[in-house]
Amino acid sequence: MAAQRFAFRRSVLDARWQARGDYRAVLNLKSCEMQHPWADELLDDVLAEVQVRDIRSYPYHVDLMRLLAELNGVDTDSVVLTAGSCSAIAMTVDGLAEPAGLLIAQEPVFDSWTYYAALRGVPVSRTAGLVGCPPTLDTRALRVAMSASPPAVVALTNPGNPSGLVIPLGEIADLADLARQHGHILVIDECYAAFSGLSHTSLIASYPNIIVLQSLSKAWALAGARLAAVFGAPATIDYLRRFRTDSAVSATAVALAHGLSTRLERLRMIWTDVAAIRNEFTERVLTDHPRWIDVGSVANFATLWIGGPGEGLRAEKILWEHGIRVRGLDGVPGMAGCLRISMADRHDMIRVADVMRDRI
Ligand SMILES: Cc1ncc(COP(=O)(O)O)c(C=O)c1O
Repeated sequence: MAAQRFAFRRSVLDARWQARGDYRAVLNLKSCEMQHPWADELLDDVLAEVQVRDIRSYPYHVDLMRLLAELNGVDTDSVVLTAGSCSAIAMTVDGLAEPAGLLIAQEPVFDSWTYYAALRGVPVSRTAGLVGCPPTLDTRALRVAMSASPPAVVALTNPGNPSGLVIPLGEIADLADLARQHGHILVIDECYAAFSGLSHTSLIASYPNIIVLQSLSKAWALAGARLAAVFGAPATIDYLRRFRTDSAVSATAVALAHGLSTRLERLRMIWTDVAAIRNEFTERVLTDHPRWIDVGSVANFATLWIGGPGEGLRAEKILWEHGIRVRGLDGVPGMAGCLRISMADRHDMIRVADVMRDRI
C-alpha cells in the first residue's frame, strides 16, 4: 500500500521565508527604526533597571495592558498585546479576515497584510490610496470598494507608509461610519502616529467596528523588543485575546515598556526632535534640489518626489554605494519617482544630504 502523504496547507507552500538582512555595517535609513542619540541614552537608563527576575520569570502583562489603555484613553478590556504588529496583523487575518473571506486594503499596503492574507488564502482587494504626482491622498477608491463589498476587514495605515501623509481624524471617522453601514471592520495601523501627535483610539468609543494597531517599534524605540498593542471595542478584543498573542510578549519587552512609560516626557521630546530633524533635512535637500518636492511626511521619515519613474531606485542605488540604505519607491503603487529616507541623528542626516547634493 502506498504511504499516505501528509497534507500541508496549500496557500502556505506558496509563501517564502527569508531571514532579515543584516545591515548593521551601513547607515540603515530604510527600516524606520528609532535612531536618535537621546533614545539611545533613554534605553540605556531603562535597560539598567531590568532585573534578573524580570527575565527568569514568566511575564506579567496586566499592568502593561492597564498602562497602555490609560495612555490611550480606553479601558483595559479594550487592549491586547502582541509581539509586534506583524503578529497583530496575523491575528487579525486569522480571526477576522479569514472568516469574512475578504481583506480590502488601501494602497500602499504594508507587506505583512498581503503576506498573511496569502498564507491563509484570503483574497485581497487593493484600492488606490494615492493620486497624482507628487502623490496626494485620496480615499475615494476605498469608499467605493467598501460600499460595494460584503462585510470584510478593511486595512489602512495612517499616517501612510511610505508617503507619511495623514488622513485627518474626521475623515477616518467618516470611513468608520461607512464601514459600520456595510458591516466591515476597519483596522487602522498607527505605527507612525506618535511623531505627529495623532491618535485614533478616541474613535473606539463611538465606533466599535474599528481596531487600532499601535506598534512600539518606532515611537518607543523597541523594534528589537517586539511589542505592539491592539485596541478595540471590548467584544472584539475579548474575541482576539483568545488567539493568545500575549503569550509571545516577553518579560523583557514588558519591563522595557514599563521603564519607558515612567519617562514619557523624554520620549515626547524625542518625537518632537525627530520631526525637527526631518524638517531640517528636507529643507536642506530641497535647497540643493529645487525641482524636487516634499511629499509631506509627518512620520519619522522624509518622503521626496525626485523626478520621473525610476529616479527613486536610481537614488537608492547611489546612496547604497555610499553606505547609506534608503528606499526608492518606484515599485510602490502611486509613488513612482519617490524616495523614502528614515531619520537618524542630525550629523548623519547632514552627511546624507551632502551625498544627495554631490552625487544625485
Ligand atoms: C505600516 C507599518 N506598520 C507596522 C510596522 C511595525 O511593525 P512591527 O510592530 O512588527 O515592528 C511597520 C514597520 O515597518 C510599518 O511600516
